[in-house]
Amino acid sequence: MEKAAQLALADRLLDYIDRQTLQLSTAVYRQAVAEYTDDQQATREIKQLFRSQPLCVGLSGDLPTPGYQLTHDASGLPLLLTRQQDGSFKAFLNVCRHRGARVAEGAGESRGFVCPYHAWRYGLDGRLVSRPEESSFEACPRDDHALTPLAAEERHGVLWVHPTPGEALVFGEEFVPLEAELAGYSLAGFHPFATRELRRDMNWKLALDTFLESYHFCVLHKDSICGIFHHNLATFDTFGAHFRLVTPRRTIAKLREQPREDWNLLPHLVVIYVLFPNTVLVWQGAQVEIWQIFPDGKDPSRSVLRLTLYAPEPAVSDKARQHWQRNLDLVLHVVENEDFPLGEGIQRSFSSGAQSQIVFGLNEAALSHFHAAITAATHA
Ligand code: FES
Ligand SMILES: [Fe+2]
Repeated sequence: MEKAAQLALADRLLDYIDRQTLQLSTAVYRQAVAEYTDDQQATREIKQLFRSQPLCVGLSGDLPTPGYQLTHDASGLPLLLTRQQDGSFKAFLNVCRHRGARVAEGAGESRGFVCPYHAWRYGLDGRLVSRPEESSFEACPRDDHALTPLAAEERHGVLWVHPTPGEALVFGEEFVPLEAELAGYSLAGFHPFATRELRRDMNWKLALDTFLESYHFCVLHKDSICGIFHHNLATFDTFGAHFRLVTPRRTIAKLREQPREDWNLLPHLVVIYVLFPNTVLVWQGAQVEIWQIFPDGKDPSRSVLRLTLYAPEPAVSDKARQHWQRNLDLVLHVVENEDFPLGEGIQRSFSSGAQSQIVFGLNEAALSHFHAAITAATHA
């Protein structure tokens, strides 16, 4: 973030702290509970949000070397992400063109893929290189049976895939200023420390909602992160359906003791980007978390969360590994013991039919924006 932008943001946050307020929306927003429980809504979301738009599938560091491959299944599609020998990023469906077996598992370097069922052999670039009993398949030319490619792009250290074969990645104009900001974080230089996949009994949007306000910090998190971050205090800015929240750490008070020209704001912030529809990128200076949040199949009451914690350098020493493990444990402790059990309780109450609406207050502007964007995208 440029110095002038940092100072302006610091002024804004200190002003909010002085006035005990935050970026408010102009009206309360009433949200139908059916958005979290309705099967037809879940089907529309899969079609309009999870099969029709670019999906963030990680950062460049997830594919660190030429020949690296990584399977990715959280979206409900079997994805195979690869770093080609020329360094480019390519993605395929992880599905053999013979009879559909998965051609790769896990992560690691490889020169290509050999299907475990009948040994059809594919190159790293997806070409079908050879197959046993070729004469039985003469009517099915090898050239027509490459792994199915998906449009894939690496932009400022972020990996994007279009989940539907044959569809091009299209980024709207609103993406230009957002990407300019993301470029400032040098995301390509981050290294994955660990990835965890969590499955929870709540709608994917309930899982995402938990990141969108700090109104609950000193209530639900009174014994964990309340002492670290300001409660009910954040900036909120939009980039089309995407948006950014900035919440200050309590250490931001130290800036008041320093000359303004010496201010270094960034260590005092947590910056949350929601890359619509389902990716939460959390930047906290020394670490980045990417949360990819998906519906778990067609059941609106289940979700899959894929979390990767990234560090600014590879964790090669025991000391570094212990440090990053502690950070990961803290992140997981808060969401697994505090946010998500509460969200599962909400999902049960929604599913019971106990109420038909909920309400987002003026201080929950990001929630209103997010849900209005969901409605717009699924009822177009
Ligand atoms: S299913 Fe892959 S070789 Fe038969
Ligand atoms: Fe929370």
